[in-house]
Amino acid sequence: MFRQSIRRFGTTALRAAEASTTSYNVRVSKAQGFTNGLTEAIGNTPLIRLKKLSEETGCNILGKAEFQNPGGSVKDRAALFVVEDAERKGLLKPGGTVVEGTAGNTGIGLAHVCRSKGYKLVIYMPNTQSQGKIDLLRLLGAEVYPVPAVAFDNPQNYNHQARRHAESLDNAVWTNQFDNTANRQAHIETTGPEIWAQTNGQIDAFTCATGTGGTLAGITRYLKTVSDGKVKSFLADPPGSVLHSYIQSGGNLVERTGSSITEGIGQGRVTDNLQPDIGLLDGSLNIPDEKSIEMVYRCLDEEGLYLGASSALNVVAAQEVAKKLGRGNTVVTILCDGAYRYADRLFSNTWLQSKGLRGAVPKHLERYVVLP
Ligand SMILES: Cc1ncc(COP(=O)(O)O)c(C=O)c1O
Repeated sequence: MFRQSIRRFGTTALRAAEASTTSYNVRVSKAQGFTNGLTEAIGNTPLIRLKKLSEETGCNILGKAEFQNPGGSVKDRAALFVVEDAERKGLLKPGGTVVEGTAGNTGIGLAHVCRSKGYKLVIYMPNTQSQGKIDLLRLLGAEVYPVPAVAFDNPQNYNHQARRHAESLDNAVWTNQFDNTANRQAHIETTGPEIWAQTNGQIDAFTCATGTGGTLAGITRYLKTVSDGKVKSFLADPPGSVLHSYIQSGGNLVERTGSSITEGIGQGRVTDNLQPDIGLLDGSLNIPDEKSIEMVYRCLDEEGLYLGASSALNVVAAQEVAKKLGRGNTVVTILCDGAYRYADRLFSNTWLQSKGLRGAVPKHLERYVVLP
């Protein structure tokens, strides 16, 4: 009797759900169903048309909402692929340890993936990083070693310490995000195909900045292949990165000088992730911090998008590519992460002033500078 009423209630509830599905026009695919754990929830992010910038340029400017990944950034994809690559190669078995050198989103992505799969995570980072970053990784279950910030050619550099830590343990792997091409593979197998499917193949250009280069390289490789070379691709570079001048000069690698407020991007060398695809690029753009900051505020005010500075830089680059190609083109970029982890800087009067960037905030958007 009781069971029957549950069944009857169940059927009624199901009918009600079906009815509401129709009336609310649910847009999620039935085939998608549920995911088996966190790792299957990585990817399949929305592609958002930026309405104001699209109107202004007469193009479709589309941003891939990578901030919607479970760990909050595009780096969840790379984190999953480097871990699963190690599993496939037999380098990581149940109960094993993942070691990485990172101060940012890769560590957060790895922390989520490692907890979900039952691995330990050890992170090495320069001790110049904020306590907030250390705390966040620790509360996500990682063992964190802040070490002196020294150059890459010094054996005490955080990346080398991470490698040695992994070598000293059984059943441990150094995931090596910069030169492990499983990172680029994540974007060949997931982000690239998603963009192609979401635009129905109606895409003219792609652009984004690089940290490891995995995102730009993997998406460029996929889009060039699937479109027979028709989709154009451009690297976007912040100040202090050498890749723009490397591309403009046809392969001349200069010494790194200058710096940028953008986090997670900018590079002093051509990584193994970027190397196979750098020759496919159609050009590059250099985006000053002033324009990135202005776009942080514009995206917030015009689109309701609360984005970190690397995403804002990407949007500036997409806008410039759109202008370059002319009206009627579709340009896609990456919205790498949200502004949550950077709010105490990006929206602080004192911080903006200390970087000489207070004047970059448009007058009519000054009300968003809410922190002292
Ligand atoms: C905020 C942010 N944007 C962009 C990137 C660059 O992505 P990739 O390493 O694939 O070049 C990163 C990388 O860590 C990042 O943290």
